[in-house]
Amino acid sequence: MSDMATAYAEDPHGIGARLREAGPVHQVAMPDGTSVWLVTRYADVHAALADPRLSLSKRNAKPGGYQGFSLPPALDANLLNLDPPDHTRLRRLAGPAFTARRVAELRPRLEAAAQRLADGLAADLEAAGEADLVAGFATPYAVLAISELLGVPEESRVRFRDWTAGLLGAGATREGMAAVVREMYAFFTALVAEKRADPGVDLLSALVAARDADDRLSEDELTSLAFLLLFAGYENSANLIASSAHALLADPAVRAAAAEGDGAGIAALVDEVARHESPALLAIRRFPVEDVEIGGTKIPAGDTVMLSLATANRDPRRFVAPDVVDTAREDLQRHLSFGQGIHYCIGAPLARLEAEVALGVLLDRLPGLRLSASRTAEWRPSLRVRGLAVLPVVSGG
Ligand code: HEM
Repeated sequence: MSDMATAYAEDPHGIGARLREAGPVHQVAMPDGTSVWLVTRYADVHAALADPRLSLSKRNAKPGGYQGFSLPPALDANLLNLDPPDHTRLRRLAGPAFTARRVAELRPRLEAAAQRLADGLAADLEAAGEADLVAGFATPYAVLAISELLGVPEESRVRFRDWTAGLLGAGATREGMAAVVREMYAFFTALVAEKRADPGVDLLSALVAARDADDRLSEDELTSLAFLLLFAGYENSANLIASSAHALLADPAVRAAAAEGDGAGIAALVDEVARHESPALLAIRRFPVEDVEIGGTKIPAGDTVMLSLATANRDPRRFVAPDVVDTAREDLQRHLSFGQGIHYCIGAPLARLEAEVALGVLLDRLPGLRLSASRTAEWRPSLRVRGLAVLPVVSGG
């Protein structure tokens, strides 16, 4: 990676603030050497997220520019690479599974999973005195939640973590990514075949039925959607949960506020941490279909535009004291962490519920939980995601 990219991956908020205050739009180099336009301020990022002139389809990209992951067609035909009308059709198919009502039905299963994992964490704490809340709770919980929804068999779930490290980690190489993509491709096509042969009551079986009955989505679209839901569905959620736990354990005032209001305090914390840490640092790359002006800069059609959700979320032009975690903000949900416009995160209600349940159960089951005094939490260096690599905790009795 270039020096700048390495510095950003290690300190996205610090470097991001410098870029945002230096100007609204910068031309920066991605690790592969390609050049992109980075948009840093809230008003511009907010408007650009919902701007129909900014396409997500690679068809509108200049050859040789930064295009994001290179995936085979069976994984690439997903919502985050499509514009209307294909996007609209696919989103309608997946939408019903993610309504607030459908998501609320998952609550008992999420609570049971969180209880089980919190028991495990408590046992680890008792045995070893210290445990890692990321590996011991947040990650397995988020994997479990999305796997339940999609109907991914238990024995396959362990591989997700390696895949995301291979794709999103700072040390991800082109060859490593290609190998991961091949493995994911094999996994998702096999999973679709299994659901076709033996349908369950899960989302993936419903999508297979939609494909087979009415031909409303192609086979590539089906595997791509399954891939996107799984991939988008757990890494960000695990990071939001661990970051929220960290915020809560790091500051007694935040912890006290979270305990208020019979769950309302926790809900507020989850949104405030979503803003403050921005699990997805950047939105998906976009390609202008015509020349556009953003923040006073003319960006030619076909160039690559990156929208920085993290710097927008800490823009002092939009949020008062943006670097402080303050669950009493009036505009708690005005962050851009779930995007905006037609690509607004379909999983946002699930992500919020998952995090609220997880933190509620943790506080209940382990009221003495504290940050370890001997080992500090470590953030994973990455250009794309903001998440803790380890969150060492102890039980204060
Ligand atoms: C804390 C957790 C999450 C965060 C921070 C997050 C963030 C985002 C963001 C920023 C976008 C918009 C990307 C863009 O426009 O460039 C997005 C879209 C999306 N997210 Fe999430 N997400 C989270 C959880 C989930 C979950 C749990 C699921 C599914 C189970 C999910 C599925 C999706 C899908 C399918 C899209 C594409 C929607 C579309 O293009 O219409 N996400 N997410």
